[in-house]
Amino acid sequence: MQAAFYESTGPAREVLHVGRIELPEPGPGEVRVRVVCSGVNPSDVKGRAGLRNKTLPFPRIVPHSDGAGVVDAVGAGVAPARVGERVWIWNAAWKRAWGTAAEYVVLPSAQAVQLPEQVGFDAGACLGIPALTAYHAAAVDGGVAGKSVLVAGGAGAVGHYAVQCARLLGARQVIATVSSDAKARLALDAGADLAVDYRRDDAAARIREATAGAGVDRIIEVDIAANSALDLQVLKQGGDVVVYGSGAGEFKLPFFPLIVQHVRLRFFIVYELDAAARAQAQAHLAAWLRRGALAHNVAQRVPLANIVQAHELVESGQAMGNVVVDCSRG
Ligand SMILES: NC(=O)c1ccc[n+]([C@@H]2O[C@H](COP(=O)([O-])OP(=O)(O)OC[C@H]3O[C@@H](n4cnc5c(N)ncnc54)[C@H](OP(=O)(O)O)[C@@H]3O)[C@@H](O)[C@H]2O)c1
Repeated sequence: MQAAFYESTGPAREVLHVGRIELPEPGPGEVRVRVVCSGVNPSDVKGRAGLRNKTLPFPRIVPHSDGAGVVDAVGAGVAPARVGERVWIWNAAWKRAWGTAAEYVVLPSAQAVQLPEQVGFDAGACLGIPALTAYHAAAVDGGVAGKSVLVAGGAGAVGHYAVQCARLLGARQVIATVSSDAKARLALDAGADLAVDYRRDDAAARIREATAGAGVDRIIEVDIAANSALDLQVLKQGGDVVVYGSGAGEFKLPFFPLIVQHVRLRFFIVYELDAAARAQAQAHLAAWLRRGALAHNVAQRVPLANIVQAHELVESGQAMGNVVVDCSRG
């Protein structure tokens, strides 16, 4: 089968190759999925670039945790009726050498989740990381029902879903920060009440004004290193900051404002959600997908042969939405 892979970390055009590798066979408890679309996330790109670790955990890595396709074979112990099922995939490349940037992927049956008929494979390839992260950020620690929520970076792959998840989970008010008019439109179309240009406007003043001076109950934070000062200015007393991203490996937080404001800081990584949180997220997403309640934002689809371009696009930060690789030749 055709697959993309790398055997050392480094720049995409130096280390990413596309070529033939052996077709994997599903073992006990596993399914094989014919991948139609493979989602590219910042995490995949950082792993390939060696930003977290220069040494590879496996001799060869097929990248990408997210994807969507059709089950084409099952291993022992998996219901044969799964063959032919449309699925979306999570954690394919987390602590595994075999991600979704290939014509086929084999993985534990539970990591291939039924994809409703009306949802495209490109959208299905955005669920594993962006949508699950957004859902959990909105739902964790009592959720956002009746609360006011600030989604930092409300036009990003996660942020766009986070605006929608907050809305769907009953937030009273959703404010998004963005950096252009096009991103503002995207966030507003997703359900934000207000989009604040954090580069152009006095973001703290606009958010405080929108909350009648009270501040927001929850911040869903894409870059805690860049935004901690703003967050402390716009967070309500006793509010929480749910952090899923940081633009820097280390950052400083001021002790006194944090303690006086009774700030609750919550960090999480979607790969390590526990079974209950994952099941809750999947159940909600499934219901929303079935009734067409979620809008997806695929910025660009790139053929597998051009995976380098897909990685470079994600790396550039210029894509407004998800970047998806087409793996199916059919
Ligand atoms: N914890 C987890 O499980 C988890 C899961 C998914 C993603 N992540 C991480 O979260 C980050 C975003 O992922 P993504 O897939 O959503 O990326 P993305 O599609 O590139 O979105 C990032 C968004 O954040 C905006 N942004 C950047 N800096 C900002 C700032 N200081 N304030 C407000 N907005 C800002 C960007 O727009 P502008 O540059 O125009 O502002 C962009 O719209 C990445 O670092 C990723 O590794 C973590």
